Amino acid sequence: MRIWVNGGLREAGDAVVSVFDHGLTVGDGVFETVKATGGSPFALTRHLDRLTRSARGLGLPDPDHDEVRHACAAVLEANPMPLGRLRITYTGGLSPLGSDRGGKGPSLVVALAATTRRPDSTAVITVPWTRNERGALAGLKTTSYAENVVALARARERGASEALFANTLGQLCEGTGSNVFVVVDGQLFTPPVTSGCLAGITRALTADWTGAQEADLPMDVLERAEEIFLTSSTRDVQAVHRVDGRELPGAPGPLTAKAMRIFEEHAAADPDPLPV
Ligand SMILES: Cc1ncc(COP(=O)(O)O)c(C=O)c1O
Repeated sequence: MRIWVNGGLREAGDAVVSVFDHGLTVGDGVFETVKATGGSPFALTRHLDRLTRSARGLGLPDPDHDEVRHACAAVLEANPMPLGRLRITYTGGLSPLGSDRGGKGPSLVVALAATTRRPDSTAVITVPWTRNERGALAGLKTTSYAENVVALARARERGASEALFANTLGQLCEGTGSNVFVVVDGQLFTPPVTSGCLAGITRALTADWTGAQEADLPMDVLERAEEIFLTSSTRDVQAVHRVDGRELPGAPGPLTAKAMRIFEEHAAADPDPLPV
């Protein structure tokens, strides 16, 4: 496995950043996870745009898109695989041992791991911890992800693959690494970005392609929704067959199955769908 670190490809064992990197010491970094099928990244332009938005949110310099594209292409070419998870990490770089960022410039790492296609449906749990829709990091894809680590570990303990958060107002927000859609009275809804969720790329494409509406939804919508599904770069559209103790028999239900089909068809037709 060959990994891009600060300007070139290295063998995985030699692909290292400093112990003084601000991404390591305080989680001062941003990232993207991109699906790569047969060596081709999906929606790379949207991922690079979001990387820039996240970097700006942390006050990091804009990443050089040409450099990041070059790094992604080099890593994908060096490590052929049918389905890969391409990970772009961009951090505050060498810094003092505190929350002040150093002045040496950011670190850029592009790594890749082989993965397999997710099952068509999965179990999720809800967790008591909240997303803070008013926090400094709301909506940014940062490497300060330990809250997600804790919540996902709870989900695994309970035989689930994802944990769903409410925001501080008790509204449905998102999962540790996914967005959520629900069907209520035959209509498809997803929480708005103002709920504090990440502006997921799969979420935006799914909403555009299916006509799903944004709506503030109380957390207990999960107790009555006719269908529930998750979206993310690694899951695409994935049905939920259990939420906490509630079974949703027949998942994927009709609207979820339709969303899965529509997403697959559109994504196959256009591997880099640009924002309109
Ligand atoms: C917190 C969070 N929400 C939602 C998503 C889904 O976003 P995307 O569809 O862009 O992968 C992710 C990405 O993994 C995430 O980390």
